[in-house]
Amino acid sequence: MKFKSRLPEPEGKTVIVPSILSADLARLGEQVEAVEKAGAGWLQVDIMDGDFVPNLSFGPAVVASLRKATRLALDVHLMTDRPERFFEAFAGAGADMLTVHLEACRNPLATLKRIKAMGLSAGLAVKPGTALKKAAGLLKGIDLLLLMTVNPGFGGQNFLSGSVAKIAGARRLLDNTGRRIWLQVDGGINARTAVKASAAGADSLVAGSALFSGGDPAAAVKNILKAVGGE
Ligand code: DX5
Repeated sequence: MKFKSRLPEPEGKTVIVPSILSADLARLGEQVEAVEKAGAGWLQVDIMDGDFVPNLSFGPAVVASLRKATRLALDVHLMTDRPERFFEAFAGAGADMLTVHLEACRNPLATLKRIKAMGLSAGLAVKPGTALKKAAGLLKGIDLLLLMTVNPGFGGQNFLSGSVAKIAGARRLLDNTGRRIWLQVDGGINARTAVKASAAGADSLVAGSALFSGGDPAAAVKNILKAVGGE
C-alpha cells in the first residue's frame, strides 16, 4: 500500500516537535491541541520495545488516535530492534515519518529505501555514542537525521554537552549533500539548550518534559520558539 507523508520540508526556520512521551496521557488530546495552536511543527511519538531501549511506551493504537486528533504530521521514532517489523502497522495508523536507529538496522540502506517506497518520510537516528561517519553514506536517502542528545529510553534527562560539536558536524554533512534534510535533536531540549542546538545547526527540536512538565505546554512551545527565533 502507498502512503503520503505530510511532513513539511525544511524552510530555514527552526521547528519545535513535542514528544508525547512526557505528556499527561489522561489529557493527551487536550495537550496536543494546545501545542498545535502554539505553533508546534509536528508531533513525535516515541516507540520503545523494552529491548533496544530499557523501556516500553506506545503502539500503533496511540498513533491512530492522534491521527484523528491533530492536523500535525506524526513522526514515529522507532527505538526498537528490527524496526521494519512495525512499518506497516504504524503507516496504517497514520504515521507520516518513520525514524529508525542506525544501531538497530541490519541493512540500514534497504530499510530506509523501504520507508521511502511506502510513500513516507524516512528518518535516521543515531545514539550519542555512534559516530557521524557511520551515517555519512546514508544521508542522500533520508528526509531527516536525528541526533540523540541523551541516551534513548527515558524523557527528563539532561542534554549531553558533547552534542553541540556533533550537531555542527552533522549540519556540515547535510549541507554538503545539496539536499534539504532536517537536522533533528532529541533529549534535554529546553529554552536554554534549544539555543545551543539551533545555533549549531539543528532545525527540528524535539522536546518532551520541557513542554509537558510545567503545566502550560502552549506557553512552553512559544517560549522555546521565541528563544530560537522560530516563531
Ligand atoms: C528518549 C526520548 C526523549 C523524548 C524527549 O528516548 O526520545 O528524548 O523524546 O524527552 P525530553 O525532552 O524530556 O528529554
